[in-house]
Amino acid sequence: MYYPDDIVEEVREKNNIVDVISGYVRLQKKGNTYFGLCPFHNEKTPSFSVTPSKGMYYCFGCGAGGNVFTFLMNYENATFVEAVKTLADRAGIKLPEVEVTEEMKKAAGEKATLLEINKEAAKYFYYALRSDHGKVGLKYLQDRKLTEETMKNWGLGYSDKYSNDLVKYLESKGYSDEMIVKSGLASRDEAHGTHDKFWNRVMFPIQDLNHRVIGFGGRVMGEGEPKYLNSPETPIFEKRRNLFGLNFARSSKKGHIILCEGYMDVISMHQAGFNEAVASLGTAFTPEQAVILKRFTDTVILSYDSDGAGTKAALRAIEILRNMDMTARVLDLKPYKDPDEFIKNLGAEAFEERIKNAKNSFAFEIEILRRDYNLDDPDEKTKFHREIAKKLCGIQDEVARNNYLESVCREYGIASDVMRKTVVEYASKTGLAKPAIRPKSSMHEKMPPDEGVKKAQRILITWISDEPAVYSKIKEYIDPSDFTEELYSRVAKEVIDGIADGGLNPASLVSKFDSEEEQKEVASLFNTKITGLDGQPLEMSTIQEKERALRDIVIKIKENSNEYYKNKSADMTALSKVLEGKKKLEKLRKTTISLE
Ligand code: CTP
Ligand code: MN
Repeated sequence: MYYPDDIVEEVREKNNIVDVISGYVRLQKKGNTYFGLCPFHNEKTPSFSVTPSKGMYYCFGCGAGGNVFTFLMNYENATFVEAVKTLADRAGIKLPEVEVTEEMKKAAGEKATLLEINKEAAKYFYYALRSDHGKVGLKYLQDRKLTEETMKNWGLGYSDKYSNDLVKYLESKGYSDEMIVKSGLASRDEAHGTHDKFWNRVMFPIQDLNHRVIGFGGRVMGEGEPKYLNSPETPIFEKRRNLFGLNFARSSKKGHIILCEGYMDVISMHQAGFNEAVASLGTAFTPEQAVILKRFTDTVILSYDSDGAGTKAALRAIEILRNMDMTARVLDLKPYKDPDEFIKNLGAEAFEERIKNAKNSFAFEIEILRRDYNLDDPDEKTKFHREIAKKLCGIQDEVARNNYLESVCREYGIASDVMRKTVVEYASKTGLAKPAIRPKSSMHEKMPPDEGVKKAQRILITWISDEPAVYSKIKEYIDPSDFTEELYSRVAKEVIDGIADGGLNPASLVSKFDSEEEQKEVASLFNTKITGLDGQPLEMSTIQEKERALRDIVIKIKENSNEYYKNKSADMTALSKVLEGKKKLEKLRKTTISLE
């Protein structure tokens, strides 16, 4: 780690987790816990919890969880060191200057190194565009009517066609071949060794929300295949979770976001004053991207090509946005193919006009549907109207459904009371809308035996960390080695040691685990709902019921650990563990655990 543990701990302690998270999520207090809508997945009822006494957040819906550092890392897509810096700033703590050695860089994590490599590469391409070799790239961008200022704002660059210069440059900066390949900027094979991946292309750096370069798109000069080449997925470049241009568009005051297909579209739109434009990264629009957009706006205007593929992509995006309770509208740029061409030909004012006239998503869907029917044929016409009714049934919100109905009837000259009747008929035939979604209760469902044991282990860890006194009642039966999942066992040891010396501190424990996955799991260990093995919550139960549930849980864990060590056979410590475990199990089965 970059900073000494005690400083990291001080930063954590001086940043009240409720205050920090309240800056991003509206929280409401319920008992000792705060609840809000989870910022990491889409939901209508709050299952995102923040527990100040534990210094942790945890979402019962999607399992996101951790401490203040984890939160910033996930929400702002920050590295651990960046999260520490931000929170130190916030609390007015001065961090020590650290001289960064290669070793520390390594320890600070692969992600930090990959970010540096991308930044270096962006600089390299940027200067190459202005060098002799880069003239062809510069001319290309000028021909596409980009101004010098635009090129600078977006950090555009050029990857030249001579040999292996980027790889050599990065090596000279001290990066290992392994990391250079991992960054996606180079490939390695038998014949050529490690070599540049981008070659004779103008380069579009792709930045995350915090303006950090996480990957590149490169456009070939002239004709050539593929037209665009993108960095592959890397630990810092998750195409599903990023949008090109959002680092600028997030501060747009337009009240909506325009989602388009290409890098060039985004850039020419910003240049023309439409600073609300973003694009996905050479892949289809994803639900994850919708979750992120929803932080900034509820309305997304789609600007996809009008060809078959573009239409299909738009329909899919509409569905995703609708599931997020966001409004989608669709731009019509005919006769042009994309925003870049439209603006070049008709200018910004005409574009503004098209934005005003963007179709609502429902009307767009019906228009697409309409293409499949010959409305001069009465039978086909009836079918078309039935299809409209079916689509209307799919709209849950009654006010919205009614408004769509009125507007579609107006557009296609259908009598709205007839349509209303058709809708009701269709609805009663099919049991209307979608079936109500029942809350899932994982414990009541049959789960694989392994899951049952893990769940018992999780319940016990949460239980004893919430009520340390409970541990004293079971400590003769259970020790950390009984938690057969490695991560669980590590956590159990910390919890049990913490209880013993009175210093149990769940939030600081989280930072001892490196990966996001592990941190999430640790958070879940402290936030499991305390239930019996049958899934019955225990808050309202009598002491006797609790005692019985606890005993069952302890027995289940002990039985499992005995099986586990039995299979480790030859090992002597395992053997004595099994013998001892057997005795304890016998005793447990005969006694009750008293919680009085
Ligand atoms: N794209 C890609 N790989 C390709 C083609 C396209 O990743 N082989 C992605 C790029 O993100 C590109 C977007 O799809 O920006 C749109 O592609 P297309 O419509 O073909 O290109 P334009 O943006 O119109 O490109 P240009 O104007 O430079 O010709
Ligand atoms: Mn184009």
